[in-house]
Amino acid sequence: MNILIVGSGGREHALAWKIAQSPLVTSIASAPGNPGMASLGETFAVSPTDVAGQVALAQRLKADLVVVGPDAAVAAGLADALIEVGVAVFAPTAAAGRVESSKAFTKALAAREGIPTAPYAVFTDAAEAKAGLEAFAPPYVVKADGLTAGKGVTIAATRAEAEAAIDSAMGGRFGAAGARVVLEGFLQGEEVSLFALSDGASAMAFGSAQDHKRAYDGDLGPNTGGMGCYAPSPAFDATLEAEAMARIARPALAGLAADGTPYRGVLYVGLMLTPTGPQLVEFNARFGDPETQVMMIRLESDIVPYLLACARGGLDRLPPPVWRREAGICVVLATEGYPDAPRTGGEILLPSRFEPGVSVFHAGTALKDGRLICAGGRTLNICALGETLAEARDKAHRAIASIVFPGGFHRRDIGWRALAPTAPGR
Ligand code: AMP
Ligand code: GLY
Repeated sequence: MNILIVGSGGREHALAWKIAQSPLVTSIASAPGNPGMASLGETFAVSPTDVAGQVALAQRLKADLVVVGPDAAVAAGLADALIEVGVAVFAPTAAAGRVESSKAFTKALAAREGIPTAPYAVFTDAAEAKAGLEAFAPPYVVKADGLTAGKGVTIAATRAEAEAAIDSAMGGRFGAAGARVVLEGFLQGEEVSLFALSDGASAMAFGSAQDHKRAYDGDLGPNTGGMGCYAPSPAFDATLEAEAMARIARPALAGLAADGTPYRGVLYVGLMLTPTGPQLVEFNARFGDPETQVMMIRLESDIVPYLLACARGGLDRLPPPVWRREAGICVVLATEGYPDAPRTGGEILLPSRFEPGVSVFHAGTALKDGRLICAGGRTLNICALGETLAEARDKAHRAIASIVFPGGFHRRDIGWRALAPTAPGR
């Protein structure tokens, strides 16, 4: 089979790396890809949101399956366009993908299906939104409705801060994505990212990981796309996973199918583990980044049959995926200034090899005159497997110490919850 992977981040490199190990695959191509993905197959300079360009490329390559990474491509309707010309695609249609592209859509779906989530209200007028804060207590949760690359959520300690967030969102900081604002009750607990595959008719849990969204150690600093993650999480056992599938993922997927917009692909279920059980924080219409990196190094099963089944149907005929028993970690190496003003262009020197159990995925790199340079905020993903999470972390840290990347920084406390002296599974 020929497989085309759409995207250029660490998530896509990890997917390509895992897909390349499948005996079902004859060739891999990526668009636009990155220097790491270039070692697995040809790369093509087509943007993920260039729908016509991606469709033409898939047809020219006679792709048997297109695997879409980024949410922007889902929202742009790439899956719709590929389905239209008869190319199998692992990604939901734009209509089903509204679970990510509109927070108001997801909250309405959750309310309709009785899915446990924080209470909410939606506003299109700033003065009304500010008055609406009255119904909530601090800390206030203010969200821009649309896609904002993870920057559209403000947790405000005071009413003045919440009002400023409303003004900023509705004043155009996120363009059209901020024209509607969602206010939510604050949920307390540990966050977990659960992944559910769906072929439109049936669903299957497909792993989970705990991400670290703040930029700096101690969960301090600005929110980012994710600075690192680990799996398995001792806080999220099989019972909680089954509960989250039964009460959150399956009802949402059933609701989408009943609406005539069946969801095919992977549903990212962002959960808060509260004292009363898992609650929905958000859905995304794609795999997580960097969660995928840690899931791919732990996945024992061939991933390709699962991706194909989501596109073509028959997911219910596949066994649940098998995971390696080792712990996995992913530490993001980011460039100075990330997330606000990432400084790109610096040269990176990678050692010729890493110790066994270490995988390094490219997330924001480019080749310039034959040299590897930093081309994005989250630059490299250093992943490792270990008998324990501590061992995996130490391997990842040793690998980082062997990389020359002036101005690069990373969190040293990825996995702290599971590594704390009292945590189970330590
Ligand atoms: P979202 O883009 O909706 O996932 O929000 C980004 C981050 O904001 C989440 O990962 C949480 O850390 C936090 N967050 C969002 N909604 C809530 C909520 N209702 N209560 C507490 N934290 C939240
Ligand atoms: N790591 C968070 C996300 O992919 O949205």
